Amino acid sequence: MPETTWWKRGVVYQIYPRSFQDSNGDGIGDLAGIRQRLDYLVSLGVDAVWISPIYTSPMADFGYDVADYCGIDPIFGTMKDFDRLIEAAHARGLKLILDFVPNHTSDQHPWFAESRSSRTNPKRDWYIWRDSAPDGGPPNNWISNFGGPAWEWDEATGQYYYHAFLKEQPDLNWRNPEVRQAMYDALRFWLDRGVDGFRVDVIWHLIKDAEFRDNPPNVAYQPSQAEINRFLQVHSADQPEVHEVVGEMRRVLEEYPERVLIGEIYLPLERLVTYYGQDLSGAHLPFNFQLIQTAWNAREIAALIDEYEAAIPDGGWPNWVLGNHDQPRIGARIGKQQARVAAMLLLTLRGTPTLYYGDEIGIGKVEIPEDAVQDPWEKNEPGLGLSRDPERTPMHWDGSAQGGFTTGRPWLPLDPTFTQCHVEALSKDPTSILTLYRRLIALRRQHLALSVGRYVPVEAQGDMLAYERRHGSERFVVALNLGHRPHTLVLPVGANGHVVLSTFLDRDDEPFDGQVSLRADEGLIALLQD
Ligand code: NOJ
Repeated sequence: MPETTWWKRGVVYQIYPRSFQDSNGDGIGDLAGIRQRLDYLVSLGVDAVWISPIYTSPMADFGYDVADYCGIDPIFGTMKDFDRLIEAAHARGLKLILDFVPNHTSDQHPWFAESRSSRTNPKRDWYIWRDSAPDGGPPNNWISNFGGPAWEWDEATGQYYYHAFLKEQPDLNWRNPEVRQAMYDALRFWLDRGVDGFRVDVIWHLIKDAEFRDNPPNVAYQPSQAEINRFLQVHSADQPEVHEVVGEMRRVLEEYPERVLIGEIYLPLERLVTYYGQDLSGAHLPFNFQLIQTAWNAREIAALIDEYEAAIPDGGWPNWVLGNHDQPRIGARIGKQQARVAAMLLLTLRGTPTLYYGDEIGIGKVEIPEDAVQDPWEKNEPGLGLSRDPERTPMHWDGSAQGGFTTGRPWLPLDPTFTQCHVEALSKDPTSILTLYRRLIALRRQHLALSVGRYVPVEAQGDMLAYERRHGSERFVVALNLGHRPHTLVLPVGANGHVVLSTFLDRDDEPFDGQVSLRADEGLIALLQD
């Protein structure tokens, strides 16, 4: 695999399609809307776009409940719109990655209708059906990720079915070879249309314990947490046989040139890296969410980068993520100034970065009024702060009504700052966060040191996080002040050069010799002289 394969060098941009651009005034983003905005993505400098699910769906979980793996939901458009989108993306040199949701279907999927129709239906075993426990209750203690028991009683056939998420999202039985073949055919359907890869939803969930043993209790559980945390997910996910399935998916992708397999995996580092597979036969990129899960603290992040770099198997390629449609926005979590530092971190670490739409315009904390709540998880477990609506609000394009997102009523309210903080205004401002993102991405594109170069930690104390990126004779120092006070980084003797980029965008070409001083909440990239 050459060092310069697109998914290694490139930057991935995640679009939550409901919220990117509406083209027909129904208040929900769509494929034609995304197509209208491709030139923006080119101007931002990203290489690939990952679109959250656009398949036919009753939208109980906004598309993560698929009723037809080979169809486009009318909310998002038609197959023709899809073909036009992929053609327009490729014409601009952009890759297109789809979301694949293999763990569960919608309860409206024809497969499930057949499966639940009788115990003897040929598709009965395509889903996970079990008898009740001797007391008549659910077969075991597994909890749904969205709260409540993970088993739903089916009166007509007198058995329970398993759903790791909503009851409208029954889990497929991936131990059944027919299920596997049907799902691999769905992958091929999109690969044949030119799709460049997949982000696979909850890939570590696909295989469950063959004996359906109870999960052990989690002694650290607090009632303020989501109910799923009551038990440790020892038997309901991350089973050894899952790697066989991931390997099979990888082989399907390998029937086509240069496709990428990205796995959504929330597991501790040592478990996460097993998803690269034996001899790298698994996912190309098991999503690394460590920056989301670690406190925003320089020492902890420095340690985590070291641990991650050390844990990746030989030849495995790293990747980094700051946010997605399930996690509080980075700007909401660490504030506007540090969100700039975070952007510099994400775009200068070794490994493929995935950006989340809207972070580049600095969307921060958004309050969702009670009567506007959409997220089914929030509806199931209200009041615990679990809602994913705040990170799913519409993109801000210009200063017009609804930020140019829609001419109708948006499905979720926009962040009220949209009147000033929008693509059009920020593009003209040489010190805006959007300008910073553009410059960071351009710099990364220009210098192999920043994308595929070696990562070498630089000793630093307190709030300072520092490292070098090296390729050939090129050496960059990245110094990030994660604190709110000025800080000076003393470099090894003889290190001098000039600043290439500050997160404040006001120190270009400034020389330094032996040390660099950073203001509060500032990050710097500097080029070292030979
Ligand atoms: C992970 C997805 O990212 C999330 O949005 C979804 O609710 C669950 N998987 C279930 O598909």
